[in-house]
Amino acid sequence: MPYWNTNVARHRDILRAVPAQCAAALDVGCGDGLLVRKLTGPARHVTGIDKSPEMIARARELGGTFIEADFLTADLPVEGYDFVCSVATVHHLDYEAALSRMRDLLRPGGRLVVVGLAREASVADWAVTIAAAPIVRTVKVVRRASGPEGMPAMPPQMSDAEVRSTAARLLPGVRYRRHVLRRYSLTWEKPG
Ligand SMILES: C[S@@+](CC[C@H](N)C(=O)[O-])C[C@H]1O[C@@H](n2cnc3c(N)ncnc32)[C@H](O)[C@@H]1O
Repeated sequence: MPYWNTNVARHRDILRAVPAQCAAALDVGCGDGLLVRKLTGPARHVTGIDKSPEMIARARELGGTFIEADFLTADLPVEGYDFVCSVATVHHLDYEAALSRMRDLLRPGGRLVVVGLAREASVADWAVTIAAAPIVRTVKVVRRASGPEGMPAMPPQMSDAEVRSTAARLLPGVRYRRHVLRRYSLTWEKPG
């Protein structure tokens, strides 16, 4: 059985967002490639990119097409993908550069889904986090949350408000959602 955690919890929605007739998809910061393998089927060809040699080695063992490189500088086809997604990774990168690059890699009519983490910066942010804490804790225990050993992790620096306003500027019309299990998601369609 594959593992479950609060990133994996978003996979179902991500898979639902794959456009029909998706020829090419890209998962940015793919880690061990769990989502890449799930996307294979809904998308004809899926590539995962991650800069961690350990994660890419693990991903290749389990199967799929992977690039070991920094997403911001890797040689990738401009307007080459019908679907680009990224889970729990954009806070590791320069946010504006990452969103702009994902946008530019999408074909016209293509779809972008970004799942991320933001830091609490206001009373309202803290109220939401504190209210959700017992639910998050219980779900994690019940679902036996775990993940691959050695997965690179870091705390988010940007607040929810900063994430939202930057995304709205770079991706006009973007849909933002805040999820109970401490993640937000952005969904955007590139005009055709
Ligand atoms: C918290 S992990 C999330 C992995 C996976 N998406 C998941 O949900 O399990 C963040 C991943 O982003 C990768 N990463 C960080 N900076 C990157 C960069 N500049 N280019 C590509 N990958 C990067 C890390 O190596 C790590 O595997």
